[in-house]
Amino acid sequence: MTYNKITAPILSEIKQIIGNEYVVTDTADLERYSHDETEDLRYYPEVVVKPQTPAEISALLKVCNQYLIPVTPRGAGTGLSGGSLPVMGGLVLAMERFNKVLNVDEENLQATVEPGVITEEFMNQVAAKGLFYPIDPASKGSCFIGGNIAHGSGGPRVVKYGTIREYILNLEVVLPSGEIIWTGANTLKYASGYNLTQLFIGSEGTLGVITKAVVKLIPAPTADALMMASFNSNEAACVAVSAIFRAGIVPSTLEFMERKGVQWVIDKDGLSFDMKPEDAAFLLIEVDGTNVNVIFDECEKINAVLEQHGCTNVLFAESAAQKEELWRIRRTMGVSVKSNSVYKEEDTVVPRAALPQLIKGIKQIGSSYGFESVCYGHAGDGNLHVNIVKANMSDADWNTKLKDGIREIFELTVSLGGTLSGEHGIGFVQKDFMPIKYSPVHFELWRGIKQVFDKNHILNPSKIFNS
Ligand code: LAC
Ligand code: ZN
Repeated sequence: MTYNKITAPILSEIKQIIGNEYVVTDTADLERYSHDETEDLRYYPEVVVKPQTPAEISALLKVCNQYLIPVTPRGAGTGLSGGSLPVMGGLVLAMERFNKVLNVDEENLQATVEPGVITEEFMNQVAAKGLFYPIDPASKGSCFIGGNIAHGSGGPRVVKYGTIREYILNLEVVLPSGEIIWTGANTLKYASGYNLTQLFIGSEGTLGVITKAVVKLIPAPTADALMMASFNSNEAACVAVSAIFRAGIVPSTLEFMERKGVQWVIDKDGLSFDMKPEDAAFLLIEVDGTNVNVIFDECEKINAVLEQHGCTNVLFAESAAQKEELWRIRRTMGVSVKSNSVYKEEDTVVPRAALPQLIKGIKQIGSSYGFESVCYGHAGDGNLHVNIVKANMSDADWNTKLKDGIREIFELTVSLGGTLSGEHGIGFVQKDFMPIKYSPVHFELWRGIKQVFDKNHILNPSKIFNS
């Protein structure tokens, strides 16, 4: 696809739609929109606009379609797969002014929200009414709910509560043609043909621009318990994960952390967590509900399972402050790895019982290519974040050979029944690996879908797959 540049006459059409004030063209100001949280990639847009209404977006998309200008929708820029990078230049649609919770319907347990609302602020607003929105990615304090929808986000609570897919009932979207539609209905069930809502979730801004979402809420749990379990090996910890479910318990979170990741967080943030020399890996396990006795009973059962599976120590958090500190270790791990080393992050996901084989294989691949990795993630979902750190690898090997090592990690993941990303998306940086898992038939179907929605391929080009 050949795109055009935003010329002065096109820019003045854009300004007429949205007003000078909300058009950014200054290079220094564009910098903020040239990257997300993915490694150190930088792609500058030609122009950034900050619309506030679906009608403005509709008019902008019509202009961009007419002149073949690439358009990249952008949330808060916390993505980890380069999904919001304007790799073809063009226009970035910054959704930051779509920042309102429009309605919380306490009778139906639903909220209507704009995509530029910060996820944690949304959680807090509904929590003030005793309601619960459980999707809390590590970046919840800064990411936008619209970006979460576009990526099919997860986070620690997926293991009990499901992904964002289970909470989005209906979406208002602006199509590349400029038409504005609702994708479905505000109902908990939907058996009315192809489900466009689900198609848009995880479409990474390639099919349309989300301008409103109707979100399912649930009653809030009123109590929880948190424990940190230590193991002498990664594999022992991963084997214990499946055993907990087989014992009939679904924890609200079941997170895995390797020693080095924990060490780096402690060193960086000065947290007090007492690691024994033999501790190699940890599980952070939370149980929640409304009945404290049931929660304690489940904790005891989990404790018994852990003991049977080589757990060497269990720390029960005794106060809200201690819970907070343990969660800080887990939540800041990604940031901490980043600040310690040049790194690349992969987001492998396998059926849960394959986790021990996955982590063992990743370490073997690392040894043969000479890279180290720090692994952590949502073990209850079989979702392991693999942070490859440069360590002693030469620049030459890092820049050339490493890609083969990453390919081997994905080949292993796929051979274990998994796929390339559990929650970070494919975006720009993982798309070359897609043929490991998906056949030419998949690509043909995806290209067909793209063509139906976006015949000139203006929306977020060069993402997920080459259309
Ligand atoms: C986390 C992010 C990186 O789980 O997904 O910390
Ligand atoms: Zn994660």
